[in-house]
Amino acid sequence: MAAQPPLIYPFGDAAIAEAAAIIGAGGIVAVPTETVYGLAADARNAQAVAQIYAAKGRPSFNPLIVHVTDLAAAEAIATLNDDARMLAERFWPGPLTLVLPLRTEAEIAALVTAGLDTIALRVPAHRAMRALIAATGAPLAAPSANASNGISPTRAEHVAKSLGARVPLIIDDGATEAGLESTIVAGRTMLRPGPVTAEMLGEMLPIVPGTTAHVSAPGQLATHYAPSKPLRLNATRAEADEWLIGFGAVTGDDTLSSDGDLVEAAARLFDALHRADTSLAARIAVAPISEMGVGVAINDRLRRAAHR
Ligand code: TXA
Ligand code: MG
Repeated sequence: MAAQPPLIYPFGDAAIAEAAAIIGAGGIVAVPTETVYGLAADARNAQAVAQIYAAKGRPSFNPLIVHVTDLAAAEAIATLNDDARMLAERFWPGPLTLVLPLRTEAEIAALVTAGLDTIALRVPAHRAMRALIAATGAPLAAPSANASNGISPTRAEHVAKSLGARVPLIIDDGATEAGLESTIVAGRTMLRPGPVTAEMLGEMLPIVPGTTAHVSAPGQLATHYAPSKPLRLNATRAEADEWLIGFGAVTGDDTLSSDGDLVEAAARLFDALHRADTSLAARIAVAPISEMGVGVAINDRLRRAAHR
């Protein structure tokens, strides 16, 4: 009850400077966009991104949208075909997110894309989010700034009520304009309806409706990033043919966090799975992870990876 409330700063130079300092130090900040308030972190910093999931209490690692300043910044991270470039030129900056092939050289933390080889990108129009991207010089991963399963926040007070002390700073710039999350398009499929309507998209391209279910439904996402090898959970020691991913007191060939820090473990999870998969061992084992906080999401992903 008496947890320290977050600071709420009105939009302005002081708020942006303070927010940029927090993001630069690997922290998270709530910031308005033209759609909803987002919970932002440097998308290149896995530890910072892990804090987003921890603060939201997300039971699984949905891939996040990354916010960049312009089309050129997007092209440095992903490849845009002619369709994508046409939509970007028409609707950016604005409430349209494009799911695009991720460039292998892009320095985006694997946790942002949940290990997928595509990335959701958008160029926001809101002055606060744009100022924060400029001040940090970073691509900013940002889901809606509400606790998991909560309602998307359209005012700073909504964020404070939903996340409380789990976010240190909220930039307040009043109610958001759209109040509804961005439209998501992958190729010629609209994965999520939003402020850029099917009619608006249809003037540019023949777009068909779809859903994000294939990336968020249980068991489905696993097929994209699951290791190619059998994976054993709750292992306290490795068998002869296993690569052991340790945690806390369980030391292995690798560790998610030798201190037993769940946020650090979340940050390292997908990289650790990739390393295990490319190791010479025939099978993978993973130490027990506590079912607390962001540990719930880690275990969700590990179970999916085990039951492929
Ligand atoms: O308006 C918005 O888009 C807000 C503001 C803060 O920008 N952000 C937002 O993020 O709604 P989030 O994390 O709540 O929604 C991300 C959505 C999820 O439904 C996820 O499945 C989809 O984007 N997504 C992310 N990466 C994807 C990918 N590689 N392929 C398909 N869908 C993806
Ligand atoms: Mg959301």
